Amino acid sequence: MGENQYSLVVVSNRLPVTFERDSAGVLTPVISPGGLVAAVAPALRGKNAAWVGWDGTFDGSENSLDVDGIALFPVALSQTLVEKHYEGFSNSTLWPLLHDIGAQVDFEESWWSAYAEVNQRCADAVARVAAPHATVWIHDYQMMLVPSMVRSLRPDVTMGYFHHIPFPSPPQWNSLPHVSEVVTGLYGADVCGFQRHSDTENFLAAAQATPPASGLIIPKAKTYPISLDFADVSKAASSEVVKHKAKEFRKQWGSPTTVLLGVDRIDYTKGIPERLEAFESLLESGHISTEDVVFVQAGSPSRENVASYQALQTRLDSLVKRINEKFPSSQGRMPVVYWAKNLAREDMLALFVAADVMVVSPLRDGMNLVAKEFIACRGDNSGVLVLSTGAGAADHLTQAVLCEPGNPEALHDAILSALAMDGGEAHTRMAAMRDYLAVHDVAAWASDILGDLASLPSK
Ligand code: F6P
Repeated sequence: MGENQYSLVVVSNRLPVTFERDSAGVLTPVISPGGLVAAVAPALRGKNAAWVGWDGTFDGSENSLDVDGIALFPVALSQTLVEKHYEGFSNSTLWPLLHDIGAQVDFEESWWSAYAEVNQRCADAVARVAAPHATVWIHDYQMMLVPSMVRSLRPDVTMGYFHHIPFPSPPQWNSLPHVSEVVTGLYGADVCGFQRHSDTENFLAAAQATPPASGLIIPKAKTYPISLDFADVSKAASSEVVKHKAKEFRKQWGSPTTVLLGVDRIDYTKGIPERLEAFESLLESGHISTEDVVFVQAGSPSRENVASYQALQTRLDSLVKRINEKFPSSQGRMPVVYWAKNLAREDMLALFVAADVMVVSPLRDGMNLVAKEFIACRGDNSGVLVLSTGAGAADHLTQAVLCEPGNPEALHDAILSALAMDGGEAHTRMAAMRDYLAVHDVAAWASDILGDLASLPSK
């Protein structure tokens, strides 16, 4: 299909693609699993949709690709632009500032220029591929200037922006360099969506303090909690392959009575060291013993060129070593199994099936789809979820064992009450959360947003 033809155009920093080299050395694009992709891709199939973004390479080709029925339009970026836009303003300025957990916020003026340049390139690509009166759906904090940039190029399109991560309260938000340009960057959108009511309210407070330039208006703001493809994950987790892998994993971990599990992108917002320290203090206090319990922590390496992420990796390596040296079981079994690698989808699902208690304890998180994946994988209604209220998921997964973020005693107590919960209660809680997610799935999320956009008067 040529350009200027697509009735639905998605824009995100990263295209949902990775390149695999075949035996002849030829690179083939494949849809990458997880995160934004898993949430958005199912909503696009069969909708004459295009997706604009960076393909993860430096100075790559801008030729369009058809992957699984979605037309992908790569925006080629140089290494310098990626360093300044992605590693710089997006992940060293916006990411720590928007999560508001006291992490260091860095800023350089050249990062801001690169951020604006990458946003403009993406906006230009959208303007090229969108059909007349198309719907444009922009994703996340790496792309906050795209709405107003697209609006000035294409007044005819209907536009939604969805913010996947927290939007902080006014004092924190106002400390952002170039804050008014970022807020007004969103003003080209018709609707801005957020994960939690608090995010929506914080955006509205920021908008009230930032008048729109002439020709633009403050967008409608609404809360749309993101979800997962519940039926698909449940089905995949019930396959014989996954069940078999789960059994093998437990054997590999020394057949403990109880498996505690953490699964995260290795990010300082996820509270991984704090979680392992809670486990360590439970071992120290004698409330649990390495004779019975193993903590499995899987982490996918992330943003590895950013100093704060490198520091976290180092901290985790030494923390795991310390706990394992201090508390081996009498058979020499290690209390912490730490897998710092990207896992194949089936292995990831097998982890969720193999666990008894899943500990999701971010200091702050937009939603946290890992918590929802764990629930989707528990087809027999067994298992207990410990969930920090710092995650958006805690707003509606209220049958989890909830705990305050960043409070070691609260996490300690929550893990203990999860371990002590009787099977009947765990079953009732899990069944209720599964019922909720079966209805509030990713298709409902996407159709809510796209339905709201479709109901706006045509331009
Ligand atoms: O949820 C936040 C987010 O940045 C998404 O936009 C993205 O899909 C995911 O985390 C992974 O981030 P990255 O592209 O930096 O690996």
